[in-house]
Amino acid sequence: MSLPFDGAISKFFQETAPVAVQKAITDGRKKDILSDSYPYRARMDKDIYQAEIEALQLELVKLQADVKATGKRVVVIFEGRDAAGKGGTIKRFRENLNPRVAHVVALSKPSDREAGEWYFQRYIRHLPTEGEITLFDRSWYNRAVVEKVFGFCTDAEREAFFRQLPEFEDMLVDEGIHFVKIWLNVGRAEQLRRFLAREKDPLKQWKLSWIDVEGLNRWDAYTDAIQETFDRSHRPRAPWTIVRSDDKKRARLAAIRAVLQNIDYTGKDSNVAHPPDSTISGGPEVWDG
Ligand code: ADP
Ligand code: AMP
Ligand code: MLT
Repeated sequence: MSLPFDGAISKFFQETAPVAVQKAITDGRKKDILSDSYPYRARMDKDIYQAEIEALQLELVKLQADVKATGKRVVVIFEGRDAAGKGGTIKRFRENLNPRVAHVVALSKPSDREAGEWYFQRYIRHLPTEGEITLFDRSWYNRAVVEKVFGFCTDAEREAFFRQLPEFEDMLVDEGIHFVKIWLNVGRAEQLRRFLAREKDPLKQWKLSWIDVEGLNRWDAYTDAIQETFDRSHRPRAPWTIVRSDDKKRARLAAIRAVLQNIDYTGKDSNVAHPPDSTISGGPEVWDG
């Protein structure tokens, strides 16, 4: 069977990737963290992770009961570069929740009809009613980042987006919606290692898209668009939580904790739902490009 995109990821790795990235991947053993600036050298121990994730999932079940009982509305958006771990984090978040309560919204590119609407319109349709938790796998921030990098919108459309954004997000907060913005931050070598794994694995090839392949050459354009996004959208009423996701396990624990930290619910165990690991999460100052 031929590889998707004719092995374009492997080709990029061999021929185009910066030497430091090639070397990090070639020298890195499976358990090594590839980013030098990451505060841990090795991935989290599996047994410790398993115990922690199970305890956190129990907290999420308590949160769910509270959301249903009190009619809370919760919106969490998961953002990050391709292969940052958005899908996997959402999967663990929902693993033990009722799909009627915890919805995932993963929209594809806008249809012709949607392209003719107000930009926020198609997202608004999916906002929760009382008793629901809505998890966005990518969000309106597409306009800030991927649409900029690939020229899918005009500069004027993007400016209008940034102008409307604070008011739009403030409206969610005014409504009493619990609103959390998570940015998963993956390093360049780790991203490429994950793409290489996807290219080889028939169970994961579906995750690769033309955007991922073409995006390999646009790392720096992404960096600029992301930096600008934080500068223009990290505000006290709607702050970003950055979670460094070079270690997927630590990232999943921190992302769930970041959500739990923002919402009170009956039966909260603060020994489990404690603040996320501050060495890998926090505001935009934690972001590592
Ligand atoms: P994902 O990483 O979410 O699996 P892709 O990497 O293929 O998906 O695409 C990244 C994002 O870019 C998706 O949210 C997709 O909907 C969006 N996108 C792709 N093509 C376009 C387009 N022509 N206009 C606007 N957005 C697009
Ligand atoms: P997986 O999702 O575990 O099948 O792995 C997909 C890619 O992510 C591979 O490149 C793995 O090396 C990498 N990976 C797997 N587990 C982790 C982890 N805990 N932290 C960081 N990367 C991981
Ligand atoms: C992720 O792993 O971050 C996403 O869910 C999939 C992708 O963007 O490639």
